[in-house]
Amino acid sequence: MEQKRGSFAGKLSAVLVAAGSAVGLGNIWRFPSLAADNGGGAFLVIYLLCVLLLGVPLIWAEFSVGRSTQLGAVGAYRTLNKRWGFIGYFGVLAAFLLLGFYYVVSGWTLEYFVESINGNLSKYSTPEEYRLLFDSFKTATWKPLLFAWAFILITHFVIAQGVQKGIEKCSNVLMPLLFVILFVMAIHSVLMPGGVEGLKFFFKPDFSAISTGTILAAMGQAFFSLSIGMGCMVTYASYFNRETNLKTTGLQVTMLDSLVAITAGIIIFPAAFSVGIFQAGETPMAGPGLIFITLPAIFNSLPWSMLWSAIFFLLIIVAALTSTISIHEVVAAYLNEEWKIERKWSNWLSTAGMFVVATLASLSLGVLNEVRVFGLTFFDLFDYVTANLLLPIGGFCTSIFVGWVLDKKFLERELTNDGKLGGKIVPVVRFMLRWLCPLIVFAIFLDTMGVI
Ligand code: TRP
Repeated sequence: MEQKRGSFAGKLSAVLVAAGSAVGLGNIWRFPSLAADNGGGAFLVIYLLCVLLLGVPLIWAEFSVGRSTQLGAVGAYRTLNKRWGFIGYFGVLAAFLLLGFYYVVSGWTLEYFVESINGNLSKYSTPEEYRLLFDSFKTATWKPLLFAWAFILITHFVIAQGVQKGIEKCSNVLMPLLFVILFVMAIHSVLMPGGVEGLKFFFKPDFSAISTGTILAAMGQAFFSLSIGMGCMVTYASYFNRETNLKTTGLQVTMLDSLVAITAGIIIFPAAFSVGIFQAGETPMAGPGLIFITLPAIFNSLPWSMLWSAIFFLLIIVAALTSTISIHEVVAAYLNEEWKIERKWSNWLSTAGMFVVATLASLSLGVLNEVRVFGLTFFDLFDYVTANLLLPIGGFCTSIFVGWVLDKKFLERELTNDGKLGGKIVPVVRFMLRWLCPLIVFAIFLDTMGVI
């Protein structure tokens, strides 16, 4: 039986759902920790360059592949060219590993939301106490596991509501709210005593702080944050309609995403310096706990701290949710379209798979901490392998595919909506996809291996 394919309704919706996928823990949790560990301002500069030179052309390429075929990642690449279907499979693999650790961190945000409501989070005062709290939570066995599982089930049930009702409604209401709250918090954070030191750390590039791997980390973060390199934007664009302007949608998503990441930096760094988590003049090693230690400290300096932290963690949960939905959807759409498994069951099947990887990642911070692959815990391995390897490789293949393999007219047709929109920029984009993007990714890999 032919199933009717869902789609997103309005013009605004295409931007908001794609931004919903892009804006997530990558911006609020991953970006500040990486910037802290990699010299602050210098990392920001390299990151923004990667967004501009790799992110923008690739998000357009992925949108084009998805919207032209109206199929999920695997089907889309295969329909355009049989031999290049592997990019889609690659994406499904990346989706699994990525969600493995993403669900664990999402679970942490859920836990912090609950602890805000029951008042436990405002019981402590020094950053050291918050560090201990985070460490004891992270290494426990059952609690983080249960929260990660809960997050998987929440994602499952939103997806079960269908594309339009589930995904679109969530994004339309909650994304704008997130932007407003982030903005208010940024202002508060900058005004905290000593906050200016944090702004300096974040905005003043100190290129001597760059170490091996910094450039790779910045590139990986650009892919991660924009949700590109694994067919996620392909899958979402398959729900766009023919009138959607892919150029402006891609640009708006990229700008919103970068804006949220930068705002997160403006919230975290001044506060971290103000409460003494970081000291001026030293490179702080922050790790994945950064926001879970810094944010409670910011809330403590506010009246009604419980209320603030509850609202804020709720919004991070929403940001994470709109992202987990988009990754989960890659797997569910694959099983549905390729294996002809009914939507309901394809959703359950991917959920079951997620339980396994997320459990591994969560336990690897506690009882399975001794199990190492290449010296990394499962949690770090999933994170490192997806962001720094799978996504850039996926992006590399997509740029070659759209730049060299597909017909010259393909990009023009999609970016101009069959000639209805101006296409002056198309040759530039094509050039970037043919030459610039593959070369940059390749050079960064060589650089990381110490070859150049
Ligand atoms: N971009 C999201 C974030 O920053 C995570 C994400 C969603 C993602 N879909 C993706 C990352 C696809 C890579 C690929 O939190």
